[in-house]
Amino acid sequence: MSNPSLLILAGDGIGPEVMTEVQRIIAWYGDKRGLNFDVSEDLVGGAAYDAHGVPLHDDTMAKAQEVDAVLLGAVGGPAYDDLDFSVKPERGLLRLRKEMDLFANLRPAQCFDALADFSSLKKDIVAGLDIMIVRELTSGSYFGEPRGIFTENNERVGINTQRYTESEIDRVARAAFELARKRGGKLCSMEKANVMESGILWRDVVTEVHAADYSDIELSHMYADNGAMQLVRAPKQFDVILTDNLFGDLLSDCAAMLTGSLGMLPSASLGAPMENGRPKAMYEPVHGSAPDISGQGKANPCACILSFAMALRYSFDQGAEADRLEAAVESVLASGVRTADLMQADGGTPASTTEMGDAVIAALDASL
Ligand code: NAI
Ligand code: MG
Repeated sequence: MSNPSLLILAGDGIGPEVMTEVQRIIAWYGDKRGLNFDVSEDLVGGAAYDAHGVPLHDDTMAKAQEVDAVLLGAVGGPAYDDLDFSVKPERGLLRLRKEMDLFANLRPAQCFDALADFSSLKKDIVAGLDIMIVRELTSGSYFGEPRGIFTENNERVGINTQRYTESEIDRVARAAFELARKRGGKLCSMEKANVMESGILWRDVVTEVHAADYSDIELSHMYADNGAMQLVRAPKQFDVILTDNLFGDLLSDCAAMLTGSLGMLPSASLGAPMENGRPKAMYEPVHGSAPDISGQGKANPCACILSFAMALRYSFDQGAEADRLEAAVESVLASGVRTADLMQADGGTPASTTEMGDAVIAALDASL
């Protein structure tokens, strides 16, 4: 069988800097674990605009559709701020998400013990936290029709519509139940079935999918406002949280900050299963291109490294190797190696992007 394929789109700003460290880790897995990937690289965002006049070339789009997973760095930067909306770097990202139909956005909130002091919550509430928010990404309030600003009775009316079809709920629920099976076996679905019909349908369909194919998973339902409270009160009660696009936007940002720094947050966006059974997938750090620190070797590569760990787990069924990589990052942090974003003002000399990558690779070596 041929090797699984990866398309790397490093993008702009710190994107290529953090991706360099991921490439070294991919090479490590080939050398030390016999886990080889067919890696190709291409341009996205401002880098693609500079080369082709568009933020994503059609050929790159076609490649992204064929590979087993896309790894993306970050896009954008001040050099592109004045571009026409249609060719802005972000449009490259949006095109990938839309044409690959990546309807399930996975945002883990994982608190490494060594960083528990960075949380806005008390240490014992977040230490050891490991939850996953699955947000529906391609429908709901941000897309539903009718939408717009209209005039009615001589005043303006702003309208957005929360609309979900049964099949849209069904497919994201299945993605979330599959994840729950690879994780702690527990799923909590959040909506507002008390006041929204779309929430009633959401709850019904999730319950039906559960009964039909996932009765081994422990399912609960919660109103999303209570979910927000529970997330800051006792986040460790959750394993996988499934929710819609709008609530997921808020809940995933809220959960993210339980864990501290933007430089530590990975994400995945998954679509329908391909012929080989793997889901269409794109993995990327949550952060942007960080123009304020780009080109200075200061960026924390961990978010991008942890995104690759998610690829190992969710695209390549290498859960044990994903655990190994996450444990390596955790041990590096515990040993005190920190990039500047993970240090208090008086914390001493920060590690560079490369030094952080070196330390993770050393920890991987030590894990053998
Ligand atoms: P940002 O995430 O790039 O940076 C926010 C702050 O966090 C900055 O102070 C930055 O230095 C810091 N930071 C971010 N990632 C870091 C890392 N890995 N290590 C250390 N520090 C890190 O968000 P911002 O400044 O709002 O946007 C900058 C550019 O990135 C804009 O052009 C924006 O459109 C784009 N962007 C792209 C995203 C993507 O590609 N997915 C997401 C968000 C923004
Ligand atoms: Mg948001």
